[in-house]
Amino acid sequence: MLDFEDTPRQGIPNRDAHKHGTVSNPNPAGATPDPFALDREPEAPQHADAGDAVTGLEQVELGGGRVQVDDKAIINCRADVNQLVPFKYTWAWDKYLNACANHWMPQEVNMAADIATWNDPNGLTDDERLILKRGFGFFSSSESLVANNLVLGIFKHLTNPECRQYLLRQAFEEAVHGHCFQYIVESLNLDEGEIFNMYRELPSVHNKAAWALQYTQSLSDPNFKTGTPENDQKFLRDLIAFYCVFEGIWFYAGFVQFLSFGRRNKMTGTAEQVQYIMRDESMHLNFGIDVINQIKIENPHLWSEAFQEEARAMIDEAMHLEIESAHDTMPRGVLGLNASMFDEYMKFIANRRCSQIGLAELYPGAENPFPWMSEMMDLNKEKNFFETRVIEYQTGGALSWD
Ligand SMILES: [Fe+2]
Ligand SMILES: [Fe+2]
Repeated sequence: MLDFEDTPRQGIPNRDAHKHGTVSNPNPAGATPDPFALDREPEAPQHADAGDAVTGLEQVELGGGRVQVDDKAIINCRADVNQLVPFKYTWAWDKYLNACANHWMPQEVNMAADIATWNDPNGLTDDERLILKRGFGFFSSSESLVANNLVLGIFKHLTNPECRQYLLRQAFEEAVHGHCFQYIVESLNLDEGEIFNMYRELPSVHNKAAWALQYTQSLSDPNFKTGTPENDQKFLRDLIAFYCVFEGIWFYAGFVQFLSFGRRNKMTGTAEQVQYIMRDESMHLNFGIDVINQIKIENPHLWSEAFQEEARAMIDEAMHLEIESAHDTMPRGVLGLNASMFDEYMKFIANRRCSQIGLAELYPGAENPFPWMSEMMDLNKEKNFFETRVIEYQTGGALSWD
C-alpha cells in the first residue's frame, strides 16, 4: 500500500539526486530553499543550453521556474517539455482525448466471413486477390515506417508536451494498425513473408517506402538539430512527406480499394478494420496539418515561395508514385474501380492536402470519382458506430492489492 509518508518532505531534496548528478543546488550559500512549496513565485523558465531546443533529457535544475504558457513553442522551445500543463495547443490535447475515446483492437473484429470467402475458390477473382494482397503488403510495412518516423524522427524535435502526448497515442495506434495486418495475414493463412517483405520485392511498394524513408533519414542523424532555417525546413519536409503524403494521400488510395470490397459485401471483416484505421488516420492527418500550420504561424520565414514550390513538387512526385502503384495493383478494372479513376482521385486528394496547408492546388479542376468515400468518413462520426463491439477492456478490475 502506498504510504503518503514516503513522499519527499518539504525542504528536503531527494538524497540520491546528487549521486546521479541530476539536480543542481540553486542556492548553495543561502538558506535551504523549499522546492516543494506550492506558493513559490515562478522564476525564469528553464532553458536548455544556448541554441539548443529542449528534448526533455536535460539536467533538472532544482529551483527552476514554472512553465508559463507563453514560454511554449511548437519547435525550438526552450521551456521544460516535461510539464504537460499549462496547455497552449488545446487542439493537440483534444485530439489526444478523441483518439483515446476511439480505442479499438483488431481481434475485436470477426474474420469468419473473410476466411470463408478467401478459402472459397469462387469467393474472389484473381484480380480481387491481387488487390487485397498488394494492399496488405503496402500497409503492413507502411505502418512500421510511419511509426518509426514518429518516434525516431519527429518526437525529439517537436518541443511541445501536449503535441508529444498525441504523438505517443498516435504511435500506439500505428502499432495497432501493424497488428491489424498481422491479424489479417494470420486469419487468412497468407504467406507472411510475401506480405511483410513486399516492400523489398515489388517495385511500386518499394518506391513509395524509399521515397518516404529519405525524409526520416534526414532527421535521424544524431547530430541533427532544429534551430536553423535549413534544418527547420528539413523538419517541415518530413511532416509534409509523412502526414500529408503518406497518411494523407497514399493511405486513402488503399482505403478506397479495401472499402470497395466492403461495399460489395466481400471481406467485410477486413473492410471494418480498415474503416477503423481510416478514422484513426484522418485524425493523424488533421494533427499533422495543425502542426504544420502552427509552425508556419510561429516561423513565417520558413514558408518562403521557394519552399512552397518545393513542397508542391514533393507532393506531385509522390502522387505519381501512387498512380504507378494503382496501375500495378489494378491492371484491369475491378470492383467498379480502375486505374484512371485512381489518377483522378489522387489528384483530388492531393489538391485537398495542398489547400489544407496553404499551398496552391496542383491539379485544378480534379473531381472526386468516389463520392461514397465521404459517406464512409461521415459514418465514422455516427454515435452508434461501435454498437457491434463485443470486448470489454480490463480497466481496473484486474488490479489486486493482495
Ligand atoms: Fe496507421
Ligand atoms: Fe497514421
